[in-house]
Amino acid sequence: MRVYSGIQPTGRKHLGNYLGAIRHYVTGQEQAAAAGDESIFCVVDLHATTVAYDPKELRDRTYDTIAILLAAGIDPSQSVLYRQSDVPEAPELTWLLTSVTAHGELNRMHQFKEKSAQQRELVSAGLFLYPVLMAADMLAFRADRVPVGDDQRQHIELTRDIAERFNARFGEGQAILRAPEGVYPTVAARVMDLQQPEKKMSTSSGSVEGTVYVLDEPKAIEKKLKRAVTDSEDPPRIQRDVAAKPGVTNLIDILAATTDRTPDEVVASLADARGYGDLKVQAAQAVVETFAPLQERYRELREDEAAIEAALAVGAEKASAIAAPILADVREAMGVGPRR
Ligand code: TYM
Repeated sequence: MRVYSGIQPTGRKHLGNYLGAIRHYVTGQEQAAAAGDESIFCVVDLHATTVAYDPKELRDRTYDTIAILLAAGIDPSQSVLYRQSDVPEAPELTWLLTSVTAHGELNRMHQFKEKSAQQRELVSAGLFLYPVLMAADMLAFRADRVPVGDDQRQHIELTRDIAERFNARFGEGQAILRAPEGVYPTVAARVMDLQQPEKKMSTSSGSVEGTVYVLDEPKAIEKKLKRAVTDSEDPPRIQRDVAAKPGVTNLIDILAATTDRTPDEVVASLADARGYGDLKVQAAQAVVETFAPLQERYRELREDEAAIEAALAVGAEKASAIAAPILADVREAMGVGPRR
């Protein structure tokens, strides 16, 4: 049972990334180890080049993201942790998979529609092909389970379709590629912006005041959560209701996820609260406590770029060892390159 996931080194990682994905990588790492398999985590620097970006910053943001993953509990002796651009197999597979990916499918991707509308100068072909590179990431490793947030559902579905179409077209009855399963959190699969709770928390489109960054100081975290937009229902009601009470629902889910409780338990515990103040204060405290140990480890790890590069070199070697034979199968099936 192989677990795989990827994360972009763009912007600063936020509470949505953490609750929707990063903390589940650690669970995935344990599950894969228990099954005698490896989990694989990738910092996708090639995906980051699909929108306008600063080349001087990309490498630093990649180190930041690797250090966050290590600080969160990814253990390179148990998992494969690699930088996407260090391993050529998935980029090569991307090209090969374009032969079984429909132009129309890529045109219908929500993320492509949203991100292409935000580009001022150039909508790159890379942005259009982004989901094929993402599919190749998973398929080059025959991933079984992919822990991701809710916003990646469409990409996972496309990946499954691509794998199945590839097998039907080239497999001659064999499943050369494996259709992976998306694994979504039961709570906080879509953390919303604290200022605009009808929009997901995001570095590219959200508000800075409404986005809690993993590396925010405790004071900033408290300020953002205390100022979170709720609603003016009178009397105030602490209940989950995504449509009518998106802000309150988001805070309930954040508090539930950071204290390992269900949203119902959180709601019950606040039955006597008079306003939304207690909910905000408790959520702020829980987020600060969740991030404090991570931030401390991060500071130590981030300083030593040589150690990060050494860990990445090991990761790249392990990743290639897994992906190279899978690519060889794909090339053979497609009639590309010499006969085996
Ligand atoms: P990225 O870097 O945007 O996000 C990383 C992970 O964080 C999750 N996430 C959220 N979860 C809950 N609430 C939110 N507001 C929120 N915002 C982000 C994302 O769902 C994701 O799991 N395309 C991917 C990177 C990728 C990848 C892959 C993922 C490349 N190749 C292969 C899985 C497998 C992305 O942009 O993630």
